[in-house]
Amino acid sequence: MTLLITPSGQACGATVTGVDLSRPLDAASVKAIRAAWLEHHVLAFPDQVLSDDDLERYTRCFGDFGEDPFIAPIEGRQHVIAVERRADETSSLFAETWHSDWSFQARPPAGTCLYGITIPPVGGDTLFANQHAALAAMPDTLRRRIDGRIAIHSARRAYAPDGLYGASDRKGRSMVIRPSKDAEHTQRHPLIRRHPESGREGLFGCFGYIIGIEDMIEAEAVPLLMELYQWQSREAFWYRHRWQPNMLVMWDNRSLLHAATGGYAGHHRLLHRTTIAAA
Ligand code: SIN
Repeated sequence: MTLLITPSGQACGATVTGVDLSRPLDAASVKAIRAAWLEHHVLAFPDQVLSDDDLERYTRCFGDFGEDPFIAPIEGRQHVIAVERRADETSSLFAETWHSDWSFQARPPAGTCLYGITIPPVGGDTLFANQHAALAAMPDTLRRRIDGRIAIHSARRAYAPDGLYGASDRKGRSMVIRPSKDAEHTQRHPLIRRHPESGREGLFGCFGYIIGIEDMIEAEAVPLLMELYQWQSREAFWYRHRWQPNMLVMWDNRSLLHAATGGYAGHHRLLHRTTIAAA
């Protein structure tokens, strides 16, 4: 089996062929995929016919399962969630703002695997923004304002009972979201941190799951976080991922922000997702 890794030519991302993920991977293949993941941050594997067992087995090659709060797993599985939108659905798009998955946890997941099952003929791309590149290109004036700062993360804006996916979101969403008071908890992470495996400096998280900055009043922190968000999500740092059915995508939450996009009204979209726990 010879892995062929083709960079996207954008700010991150690569396509990987020459491997069949429906079969157990040997140690050399796992090592090569991990190296490519650390280098390109997002890997897309087209033409993979995978069951949920295959998706789980692949995920476990890279660590334990992450803990996925606030979204019910699919029936019969503990660690697989469905990212789904029916053709006639009118609820707000899931995950449309930039974020790093579950950054409000004490140990946010290292990575996420997302497998395309039903993919609309138009729209529904996933955007990724390279946060090593965003930091490297950042103007000194902005960097000086965030250097050494600790961000306060929380799921409250999304998953608290009065959050985006809370009580007011009950009508017609196909995803089974479970809002909870637990979303009020906060967790601290440095705004700039080194990737635990590659050692590369990058920005971690963004406004949304970040609700404040330690030792900074809200009236200063919020405009700074908004300015930072504008910088972090600039198109210069993007990889735009176009989905195909039977495509597995694996990304590194420690290096990236990502965001779902719409543009597929009238079409069904279904993907199955797992997360990889931090080591
Ligand atoms: C996600 O953030 O996990 C969902 C991304 C997508 O639906 O494109």
